[in-house]
Amino acid sequence: MKKTLLITGGAGFIGSHVVRLFVNKYPDYRIVNLDALTYAGNLENLTDIENFPNYTFVKADIRDASAINEIFKEHQFDGVIHLAAESHVDRSLKDPNVFIETNVLGTANLLNAARELWKGNMEGKRFYHVSTDEVYGSLGDTGFFLETTSYDPQSPYSASKAASDHLVRAYGNSYHLPFVITNCSNNYGQNQFPEKLIPLFIHNIQNNIPLPVYGDGKYTRDWLYVVDHARAIDLVYHDGVNGETYNIGGFNEWQNIALIKLLCKQMDEKLGRAPGESEKLISYVKDRPGHDRRYAIDASKINKELGWKPSVTFEEGLSKTIDWYLQNETWLQSVTSGDYQKYYESQYS
Ligand code: NAD
Ligand code: TYD
Repeated sequence: MKKTLLITGGAGFIGSHVVRLFVNKYPDYRIVNLDALTYAGNLENLTDIENFPNYTFVKADIRDASAINEIFKEHQFDGVIHLAAESHVDRSLKDPNVFIETNVLGTANLLNAARELWKGNMEGKRFYHVSTDEVYGSLGDTGFFLETTSYDPQSPYSASKAASDHLVRAYGNSYHLPFVITNCSNNYGQNQFPEKLIPLFIHNIQNNIPLPVYGDGKYTRDWLYVVDHARAIDLVYHDGVNGETYNIGGFNEWQNIALIKLLCKQMDEKLGRAPGESEKLISYVKDRPGHDRRYAIDASKINKELGWKPSVTFEEGLSKTIDWYLQNETWLQSVTSGDYQKYYESQYS
């Protein structure tokens, strides 16, 4: 094998797409997927590649420093793509500590293990931190997030991701750890846990459950198809410049209510409902505390320097995503049984 690569959080939404891409595209890399399998991690996301000879799964918690050190010693990684995190803003508002433990301390544990393993020879090594545009805070009606925009995180989730970005850069500066960071906009696509807007609303529309729109519904997000994010991660891992940050986004801003109406329209067509039927489920609810008004990424740096751009339009990506959820009801049923019901009641009752 040419390289041994650690991908953390590979059983989650984005991580599973990254693992699939790398395992298929690089048969001469040994890909180790490390994941604690929290509520958001699901090995069913990877059944198509689980028996590939270049793929290994390790169940471990990045909060456990000694376990992480042992795993680094055993596998002698050449590179790390770090995605494991607590990732949902609403959960971070209810229980911030686990975000600090996993996203901040967990990242520090990985950085320490990488530093120890690579000390004396950092040549060809790389620590890649997958981060979010939410570290930049909220935009007004105009403007975009650039790589140089100051950090201004507003939720415990984004603050924990900002802290971990700072740690990665500090290890680069203090210990010459070779790193890259990407800050990406909102992802959507197959295998996303139905606590985030798009899969939650697909599930609710299908089951005739009200669609809880926070506040006035005029909050804006920039949506990117998850497969395009995985393509960008592949490109940055291989061609990105050490110490650099790249913003990744879909050039695709939508106010929540406009997106929800498009989703309702596509679902009406796919479910054979009368036009306008699913929109009747829209129900405005209490706003999320401290809700960031608008996110929008300027992705020209990754476009110009590495040649990346999204491969599908939003309408195409959304249609593919809905089809996947409609065809994978057992996946949805298995992740929405048990604890999901408790979460839903406490969040939306
Ligand atoms: P996710 O919640 O779907 O998956 C997270 C994965 O991390 C799960 O498999 C979970 O089991 C694992 N994990 C959680 N805590 C762990 C721990 N202590 N030890 C080991 N594994 C643990 O998240 P996602 O949406 O796939 O996001 C992946 C990464 O991308 C995160 O770092 C997130 O901040 C970042 N990101 C997400 C988005 C988005 O729109 N979802 C956008 C930009 C950046
Ligand atoms: P979400 O998918 O949680 O992503 P993020 O908060 O990281 O951007 O939410 C996307 C947008 O949708 C955000 O403005 C909050 C809004 N939203 C609702 O209106 N209702 C909901 O039930 C959820 C989960 C989100």
